[in-house]
Amino acid sequence: MSSLYANYDPTKAIVQADPYPYYAYLREHEPVKYIPEMNAYAVSRHSDVQAVLRNHEQFSSGPLIQLAFGDFNPAPDSPYLLASDPPDHTRLRNLVNKAFSKRMLDSKRTEIVAIVKQLLDEASENEEFDVIEEFSSPLPVHIIGQIMGIETEMRADFRRWSNNVTAGGNAAALTDAQRAEMRQDTEDFRDYFLKRIAEVRKKPEANLISDLVQAEEAGDKLTADEVLAMCVLLLIAGNETTTSLISNAIICLRDFPEQEKIARADRSLVPNMTEEVLRYLSPIQFLFRQSISETQVAGVTIPKDATVLAMYASANRDESVFKNADQLDVRRENLRQHTAFGWGIHMCVGRALGLLEGELALNHMFDRFKTIEITQEKIEWCDAFYLRGPKNLKIRCR
Ligand code: HEM
Repeated sequence: MSSLYANYDPTKAIVQADPYPYYAYLREHEPVKYIPEMNAYAVSRHSDVQAVLRNHEQFSSGPLIQLAFGDFNPAPDSPYLLASDPPDHTRLRNLVNKAFSKRMLDSKRTEIVAIVKQLLDEASENEEFDVIEEFSSPLPVHIIGQIMGIETEMRADFRRWSNNVTAGGNAAALTDAQRAEMRQDTEDFRDYFLKRIAEVRKKPEANLISDLVQAEEAGDKLTADEVLAMCVLLLIAGNETTTSLISNAIICLRDFPEQEKIARADRSLVPNMTEEVLRYLSPIQFLFRQSISETQVAGVTIPKDATVLAMYASANRDESVFKNADQLDVRRENLRQHTAFGWGIHMCVGRALGLLEGELALNHMFDRFKTIEITQEKIEWCDAFYLRGPKNLKIRCR
């Protein structure tokens, strides 16, 4: 393979256009690559990515907090699950697992299905529509809003807050007016949630905010600021990722029409198809860790305090684990090995919800539409260099 791909720098437009040949080159020739432009080490093979993610004592999640929020952090005094290490992480994770449970999801299923149907009803009033604008972007926000018990009249504000809070990591690109608006939204978000937290503390309700307030482990509970931080994180972690899962699935239908036929003919394969889309086009391509002390990965020395990229998306195309890794295969058997939800102690809290949303979206689109055709010529990928999903996606459904 050409050494053109040796110059891997994920912030370059040429890499963002198609990072996968770079990943293949790195896995084969430089499984731990120093990227001078980022002062970071990219780890690309499946076994090494898993090893880094498992070894949380050596590789800290601390740097992730800045990535998510930049200057706009609605709960600055509280540790965030995603960016914490044990023992903080263990405590927060046990408490969130109690609230974000299978039982909670099952109890919300009817409402989740209703949201999928309603959004598709509205979107498909026109034969041609932008599936991100009309469906895959509002879907996870409405669903998490429903799960949290956000009142219907607050939905529009909640969606704007969610979008703004998520954009916080890209603060450098904002105008003064946008920064002022985001600062206001961050405060409004905080005030609203603290008010709701106080309400459900007095009088418990059947929703996630209330479950987070009630969650208890060995006499320990989350403080109001910790509940707030958890709600913010659930938005940040769950929205854009699920949007990309659904949008990427539609790109996969275009690129692998024979796989669409197979899944339409045997709907029991739709859950597998959802996981396979996550493997093939991972919404989070990589995330960051920081080395606690000097260490070795694949024979390369990584110094203390270095930034390490755990490349989930590259691990997911590793031929030593996934045969014909560059092909979508809805019958693939070892999908449990994919790392699109991470691995180890930080493995995605919302995995079951994300999968459910992806499956419902695909099944309901298959029910309604005989054909789903992408009508725009060129796909523009989102700006955040560690994410992968289209910015817009015009489709025609019949
Ligand atoms: C379907 C698309 C999704 C993808 C691809 C995805 C991916 C990931 C990945 C890769 C991680 C690991 C981060 C790390 O290693 O540091 C993670 C963690 C997390 N995800 Fe997801 N996620 C998805 C959906 C969701 C949803 C729907 C929610 C909740 C509403 C959610 C909540 C979280 C949380 C709270 C964490 C932090 C867990 C921890 O640090 O212990 N995710 N996700």
